[in-house]
Amino acid sequence: MNGPDIIVALDVPSSAEIKPVLARLPAELNWYKVGLELFCAEGPTALAPLRERSCNIFLDLKLHDIPRTVERAVKSASKLGVKLLTLHACGGRAMLEAAAKAAKEAGPDRPRLLAVTVLTSMDARDLSDIGVTRAVSDQVKALADLAISAGIDGLVCSPQEVGELRKRLGPAALLVTPGIRLPGGELGDQKRVATPGSAARDGATHLVIGRPILEASDPAAAVRAIKADIAAALK
Ligand code: C5P
Repeated sequence: MNGPDIIVALDVPSSAEIKPVLARLPAELNWYKVGLELFCAEGPTALAPLRERSCNIFLDLKLHDIPRTVERAVKSASKLGVKLLTLHACGGRAMLEAAAKAAKEAGPDRPRLLAVTVLTSMDARDLSDIGVTRAVSDQVKALADLAISAGIDGLVCSPQEVGELRKRLGPAALLVTPGIRLPGGELGDQKRVATPGSAARDGATHLVIGRPILEASDPAAAVRAIKADIAAALK
């Protein structure tokens, strides 16, 4: 099946909890997302259990600073062997270009960079508070265009946006979507969700999935159901 990769969101507070989580999951799952909570707690050592199993690591740090600082942060992160790394598109063109340059200089095993456009926790009012008066969807499109034209490899986006962004950005961009739920699945705190199949059909290259796998009584069965949903959608 030529569908998107499944990235498991490892939303745990300490790396001691990674091994028991991995032990419950099927070995075929080889992509994991580590975010700010765990990385702030332990730094690069938090990644050791994933490295030991040769897993692909998505380091979700959402970098946003002056170009030189972000360039150097990307350079440092490149040495950790991570495959995907996030940064904020609203850091602007110079910051994005500096990040892209640092990633490219890291060679063939470099991290691919993903830009975050508008946080899904923000609505039109929040944007207006920071001086952005155009519609949220227009802001997303403008920041997507900016990031890709600055040499960033792809975007993190909601599954509702992925179809339009795929059309807009062409086949090469990575499009990584959280907010994935199987039909009838628990939403938790997610409001705008889509099924794995619909995100795949719309052109997502990677799906970030946490609770539907981690909280399943049988995670292997949950992964089979997710893959079946993708396969049916792509048939
Ligand atoms: O458990 P669930 O599948 O909802 O986990 C989704 C993961 O994706 C979490 O790590 C969450 O922080 C992250 N995420 C998200 N929505 C965004 C950006 C990131 O759910 N807009």
